[in-house]
Amino acid sequence: MTENIVWHHHNVTHEDRCQQKNQKPCVLWFTGLSGSGKSTVANAVESLLFQNGNHSYLLDGDNVRHGLNQDLSFSEEDRVENIRRIGEVTKLFADSGLIVLSAFISPFQADRQQVRDLHNEGDFIEVFVDTPLEVCEQRDPKGLYKKARAGDIKNFTGLDSPYEAPNNPEIQLKSDEHTIDELANQVLDYLRNNGFIS
Ligand code: PPS
Repeated sequence: MTENIVWHHHNVTHEDRCQQKNQKPCVLWFTGLSGSGKSTVANAVESLLFQNGNHSYLLDGDNVRHGLNQDLSFSEEDRVENIRRIGEVTKLFADSGLIVLSAFISPFQADRQQVRDLHNEGDFIEVFVDTPLEVCEQRDPKGLYKKARAGDIKNFTGLDSPYEAPNNPEIQLKSDEHTIDELANQVLDYLRNNGFIS
């Protein structure tokens, strides 16, 4: 498919953009069940980054499925394509010098690994929002678990569609044991300790 297509090199480099923004770009890849708190924590992290003077962008499952990925369902095949596209978007955004936050269920280990492989070593930070299914179902902020249990939604993650938890995430967040503020600061600490932000 890339035959007769030639890569263009640009005058302003990735390094130039990083230097200008005074940060090392990376991808904070939040993964977890529906209702686990991915979007909420990612939002809180982005606020802290903003207050710290960093440039970031948050990609969120529900929002991206309203636009770029509005043609995709929740079948296994479409979830794979969903994450493949988002992975490419995170690559572009990180190249632009941003700290990218993404909040997608991303239920399959192989797909998350594929996105990790797109990025430079160490720049893909898997953030497992580790909230038990029972807690997510009890929260049920959008009423989706109730609908899925009633049979009105098929292929619902954790019920009749699988979720493969990360084996060795860079960050593990226990959303039922800490406040949002504590969790967000846990992520900021990681970024500071690993030289992504100052
Ligand atoms: S995935 O699995 O990564 O492709 O999913 P994602 O793009 O993150 O979209 C998840 C949001 O879609 C809503 N929703 C469903 N989730 C899981 N299973 C099914 N069948 C489903 N149908 C709709 C739901 O609001 C998810 O948002 P979050 O924020 O995760 O609750």
